[in-house]
Amino acid sequence: MPTMEQGDSSMLYLNGAFMALEQGRIAVEDRGFQLGDGVYEVLKVDAGKLLWMEDHLDRLLWSLGEIRLHEALEGHPLHSILPRLVESSGVVRGSVYVQVTRGVAPRDFLFPERTSPTVLAYAQEEEFVGADELLAGITLHAVEDIRWARCDIKSTNLLAAVLAKQAAREAGAGEVLYVSPEGLVREGGSSNVFVFLDGVLRTHPASNRILNGITRQHVLELARGLAITVDETAVQFDDLIRAEEVFIASTTRDVMPVVGVSAPDRDYLTLSGGRPGPVTLRLADAMRAAIAVELGAPSPTMLGSS
Ligand code: PDD
Repeated sequence: MPTMEQGDSSMLYLNGAFMALEQGRIAVEDRGFQLGDGVYEVLKVDAGKLLWMEDHLDRLLWSLGEIRLHEALEGHPLHSILPRLVESSGVVRGSVYVQVTRGVAPRDFLFPERTSPTVLAYAQEEEFVGADELLAGITLHAVEDIRWARCDIKSTNLLAAVLAKQAAREAGAGEVLYVSPEGLVREGGSSNVFVFLDGVLRTHPASNRILNGITRQHVLELARGLAITVDETAVQFDDLIRAEEVFIASTTRDVMPVVGVSAPDRDYLTLSGGRPGPVTLRLADAMRAAIAVELGAPSPTMLGSS
C-alpha cells in the first residue's frame, strides 16, 4: 500500500487503501456504476479543515439506512479518514467527495446475497465564490422537477440533475430551479432555494421532494438568531417575481444571491431588484462568520454589510 506524502494532490481512499486519485479503479460490475445504487456527500474544506463533518456523516449514514445499506461504513472510520485525506492532499480550500455503493456483484436489480460495499473519498482543491461573484449574484433556469420522489436521499442517481444543469448552462444561467408540476419552487440543481417574501424567509420544507441541505439547516439557524422570521413552506414560482429577495445555499456556494430567472417557455425575469438584497447579504456575512468560528479561522467581513 503506497504511503501518503504531505502535499500529494488528490489522494484517494478506496476500500481501505490510500492511493493517488488516478490509480483508483472501480469494477465494471460495481452497482454504483451500473445501477446508480449508491449515495454520496460533498463536504467543504476551508483553512485546511472540514466544515460540519458530523452533520455530513450523519446524513450519509441516514442516506445509507434509507437504501438499506446500514452496515456499509463498518471498517471505514470516515471521521478519521476524511481529515487525513485533507491533510495528506494538502487541500486548504476545496471539497471532499465521499461515495458509497452497494459494491460489486453480477448485474441484477435485487440486492446481492453478500454485499461488500464500495467506499471511497477524496479531497480536491476548489475555488470558492469571490466577493465580485457574490455581489453580481447568479441567475436560475427553471425546469419542471422530473426527478424521483426521494430527493431527500443523497443518491448518485443524478441523470435528471445532469440534464437540468446542462440546460441551465446553455440558457446562460448559473443554477437550476426545480419547479413542481403544481408550480411550487422546490430547490436548486445542487442547492436549496430561499425566498424573502412579505418580510418572511421562506424555503421548501424538508420533505421527500428536496435534499435537506446542511447549509440550509445552518441558514435557518442563523436567520432565527438574527430575528428573521422563517417559514418552511414552499412558495409558488409566480411569487418569485414579487419577492423582496431570492438566494440559494449549498456547501460549495454558501449563501449566493439570485438576481434573475429564465425558463424555457417564459421571458427572463429580474429577481431581488437585480442585485443582492440586504437580508441575503446579512445572512452571507453571518454564514462567513459562523464558518470562521467553526473552523477556528479569522473572519473577514467581506461585504461590510452587517
Ligand atoms: N449538492 N439540494 C441538492 C439537490 C443538492 O445536490 C445539494 C448539494 C443541496 C445543498 O446541500 P448541502 O448544503 O448539504 O451542500 C441541495 C452537492 C454540493 C453536490 O451535489 O455537489
